[in-house]
Amino acid sequence: MITLNVNASKFYSIFVAKTDAEFPVKPFQGKKVCIVSDSNVAPLYLNNYAKKLTESQVFSYVIPAGESSKSAENFIKIHSYLAENEFTRGDVLIALGGGVVGDLTGFVASTYMRGIAYYQIPTSLLAMIDSSVGGKTAIDLPEGKNLVGSFYQPSGVYVDLSTLNTLPKTEMENGMGELVKYAFLDKEITVEDLQGGITDVLISKCLSVKIAIVEADERESGKRMLLNLGHTVGHAIEALSGYTVPHGTCVAKGLSYAIALSKAVYGLSDEKVAEMQNLLTMSGIDLSIPYHKKEILSLIRRDKKAKHDGVDFVLIKDIGSCEIKRMDFSVLENIL
Ligand code: NAD
Ligand code: GLY
Repeated sequence: MITLNVNASKFYSIFVAKTDAEFPVKPFQGKKVCIVSDSNVAPLYLNNYAKKLTESQVFSYVIPAGESSKSAENFIKIHSYLAENEFTRGDVLIALGGGVVGDLTGFVASTYMRGIAYYQIPTSLLAMIDSSVGGKTAIDLPEGKNLVGSFYQPSGVYVDLSTLNTLPKTEMENGMGELVKYAFLDKEITVEDLQGGITDVLISKCLSVKIAIVEADERESGKRMLLNLGHTVGHAIEALSGYTVPHGTCVAKGLSYAIALSKAVYGLSDEKVAEMQNLLTMSGIDLSIPYHKKEILSLIRRDKKAKHDGVDFVLIKDIGSCEIKRMDFSVLENIL
């Protein structure tokens, strides 16, 4: 088992394990624990974790799988469930599932009785390397995704790699798009790492990149924006597809735009661009973009990060060296 520590507004540990064998039950002893999960993950793993908590009083709350469950309705319903079962501020929540369960549970934890502890057991690749760490919690509104939320760090994260055995292929691809992004942010993650499949070492390397960024800029006033690499164009493609193409897949497609843009801005050599493209193909994701640049640009103009005549874009100076650069729409139009 690999242990990583996060030293943000709250100190906590992340355990990356190959199985559930070493799941640490100590933090839950003598407490009420509510395991929040979804309708796909709960039948597979909930009982298993509940059975381990022999010295806790275990409750569970299962939401329907899917993004639509990250709702104000479920947010309130979980609060009521906790209140009905007399959870106090000393009790805890566990988020067992992907990013939907994690974001919703984290947000409930940040507000129930003005804040109780929560732990993450991420079961999707995306949640393992990204959403379970860093304390961004949220629910969606009909007006948009993640519009209501908080920064509220978990008290611990337990990654059990064996849960990936049941993750559908499209969801693996979804995670791979975010995973390859880390390889552009830090050259510690190499082509060889990506060729070796999903291992505890690779997950830990990705998490180390995210931890360093979160520790430097927990509330995203600067450096944390680097995690948006590939996202500006990625979000536009996601919207143009009517949200039928998974988020991480769109991020990988967005990364191919970021490479093209970086080539033009920094005058990168053909050799360097080929090296970057080779790294990106390691994701195994189809990088074709069936939309015209005008459609993409018009969506970027509406992006919440766009201001006046331009948008903050994460560019790749070199593998392992990215920076946030303000790009005018007129320049983007010419380059892309
Ligand atoms: P998800 O939670 O919807 O999970 C994807 C699908 O996989 C679901 O159907 C789920 O039931 C299923 N699943 C998960 N683990 C499984 C397993 N082991 N076996 C079988 N099925 C399994 O989606 P996601 O991609 O994990 O997360 C996306 C969400 O995360 C979005 O709401 C996004 O906004 C949020 N997010 C948050 C952050 C953050 O920093 N908080 C970062 C990135 C994304
Ligand atoms: N996934 C982006 C962030 O945590 O900031």
